Amino acid sequence: MFVETIKLSKPLPKLGGNRIPKQTKAKPRFFFFWVISETKMGRRVQTQQQEDQETISKNCNGVPTMPVLTPYKMGKFNLSHRMVMPPMTRQRSYNNIPQPHAALYYSQRTTKGGLLITEATVISEAARGYKDTPGIWSKEQVEAWKPIVDAVHAKGGIFFCQLWHVGRASTYEYQPNGQAPISSTSKQLMPQVQANAAEPAKFSPPRRLRTDEIPQIFNQYRLAARNAMEAGKFLSPFKLHKTQINITGFDGVELHGAHGYLLDQFMKDHINDRTDQYGGSLENRCRFALEVVEAVANEIGADRVGIRLSPFANYLDSGDSNPTALGVCMAESLNKYGILYCHMVEPRMKLAEESFETSESLLPMRKAFKGTFIVAGGYDKEDGNKAVAENRTDLVSFGRLFLANPDLPRRFDLNAPLTKHNRSTYCLIDPVVGYTDYPFLQDTA
Ligand SMILES: Cc1cc2nc3c(=O)[nH]c(=O)nc-3n(C[C@H](O)[C@H](O)[C@H](O)COP(=O)(O)O)c2cc1C
Repeated sequence: MFVETIKLSKPLPKLGGNRIPKQTKAKPRFFFFWVISETKMGRRVQTQQQEDQETISKNCNGVPTMPVLTPYKMGKFNLSHRMVMPPMTRQRSYNNIPQPHAALYYSQRTTKGGLLITEATVISEAARGYKDTPGIWSKEQVEAWKPIVDAVHAKGGIFFCQLWHVGRASTYEYQPNGQAPISSTSKQLMPQVQANAAEPAKFSPPRRLRTDEIPQIFNQYRLAARNAMEAGKFLSPFKLHKTQINITGFDGVELHGAHGYLLDQFMKDHINDRTDQYGGSLENRCRFALEVVEAVANEIGADRVGIRLSPFANYLDSGDSNPTALGVCMAESLNKYGILYCHMVEPRMKLAEESFETSESLLPMRKAFKGTFIVAGGYDKEDGNKAVAENRTDLVSFGRLFLANPDLPRRFDLNAPLTKHNRSTYCLIDPVVGYTDYPFLQDTA
């Protein structure tokens, strides 16, 4: 998802394998509200696959000892626990091609029967706004996803791909032929001030999509979803678990409808100033996202489609005058399509990493949505267990905790200490540092 402002003086060479571009000097990469700078911290190699992640403590009746570690049936997927690894952009997919190091990264965080969602993955060339984020529109990208999908499946994980179009959060240089980025509006996204960053992130003025162009965007989503189903189809070198339902590509897709990107740019009334059937009333503003849902569900089946929403978040100037009404409208309308899950960001996460006290709640949306509900944003073990125990959600996302603790379910189970994430390494170009070198439990002893 996030803002990346740095421009390389010359384009990166086309890369294959696990190679990274040589850098003579550390180059800071700014990502959303965080300042990311290259450091030499961290141990370099952490390749141990943790076989024992699957063992979860049970009481004398064979019941797991904490709510987030209890099994859950999400549609046709049998989840062995309720801890989700949510999408996290890591900007290590050079030239938008997923790289082999991602196979290790995701497989490290895989448990048998655990749900993982990829980092935001762009659906077309024009959908890009940040450097080195993975794509899924070309054959080369689809091929490159295969070993990554297979590595997760080999450990019994359930793997969804988050589909992303940044809309106006882009610049001319990411657009084919230097054209204007598209959006619901022609209002330019103002430069985003970022903590500790020397300069705010800047965006090019967008072009308001004409009504007759909108179906083209639905087609891009459909194609990306189809590609996600294909990833891994022709190459499956690992022995797959019997429990795996879809042994070919991703198990499903999550539509990125959060954080001020394209779908959110249509939903939120601080941005959408259209006068056609995609603007104005709440119902009209939800129409674009819902038609994307419909197109993708028709393409790959509603039982493989989830959506992420953040009605309360203000990222990228994406406020709304009545976020509860928006969230409920979306939750209720989604029922019509029978999609698998709705992944909602907590109201307290108005900004990226800061948690704010608020009386607002996701409960009305939880009650309105009939599929699987996933909550995200600021959850720790205690909070997550409480949310499941009180039936405020079915599943809980743990973002930064998974980022820094590849064996997170095991650590919860054993009440083991957690490694703290290092935000300065979130989006390094390095394929190891801050990525696959976070320690497993026995390494910390
Ligand atoms: C490094 C990083 C990258 C992220 N990238 C994405 C992304 O690509 N898509 C998305 O929907 N959310 C993204 N997020 C938001 C997380 O999915 C999650 O909602 C957020 O970290 C709050 O949850 P947490 O408190 O458990 O970390 C990102 C967060 C972080 C820390």
